[in-house]
Amino acid sequence: MKPLDYTSSDTTITELMIPAYANFGGKIHGGILLSLMDKVAYACATKHAGNYCVTVSVDEVEFLEPVDVGDLVSMMARVNYVGNSSLVIGIKVTAENVKKKLVKHTNTCYFTMVAKGDDDKPALVPPLLLKTPLAVKRFSEALLRKELKRYHKSKMRDAQDLNVDANAMERLKNERCVIELSN
Ligand SMILES: CC(C)(COP(=O)(O)OP(=O)(O)OC[C@H]1O[C@@H](n2cnc3c(N)ncnc32)[C@H](O)[C@@H]1OP(=O)(O)O)[C@@H](O)C(=O)NCCC(=O)NCCS
Repeated sequence: MKPLDYTSSDTTITELMIPAYANFGGKIHGGILLSLMDKVAYACATKHAGNYCVTVSVDEVEFLEPVDVGDLVSMMARVNYVGNSSLVIGIKVTAENVKKKLVKHTNTCYFTMVAKGDDDKPALVPPLLLKTPLAVKRFSEALLRKELKRYHKSKMRDAQDLNVDANAMERLKNERCVIELSN
């Protein structure tokens, strides 16, 4: 399979934040932004894969700044990493106040997508051609995040095996909770 340039599937969605997208506080709903992120991740992954893709995991979504009604939100997506059938799409989100010409960086997050073939099974995706040190850095960071996630999952599995009485009580000692067990 021929490697594809990491920029060739770059995708940007820009959308005007209309009043219908606002929450009760007058700012844009997080769910609206998540839905747009999913769309751009899908488009970017599908362009690279040449197959339809599904969303498997969403990492590091943090809403760093509120987005206002009237802002122009842009979601810039690029393939950061490819495995066999999986792709990590990095998405940078900005919100522009067009009147004040102010652009806020509101979020950078990572969507893991998996390409599927006509048989609905995971399908091999083309390798990624990395042409700049930044592209190499992004690929390597995605790999590190994948390893850390695996480690985190195994730690959580271990935690489920812990004796709750002894360890959970100790861990919660200085937390803001009140424990009132009935038996
Ligand atoms: C994602 C899915 C295809 C994986 O199927 P599977 O039979 O477990 O396939 P595999 O174990 O061979 O994994 C396929 C790839 O997914 C990756 N993957 C599976 N689960 C993952 C997870 N939780 N996080 C990140 N990657 C994951 C694997 O690492 C593997 O990557 P690789 O091919 O690059 O090595 C399947 O779980 C699925 O269809 N999930 C539902 C997706 C969905 O409906 N999304 C919402 C709507 S789009």
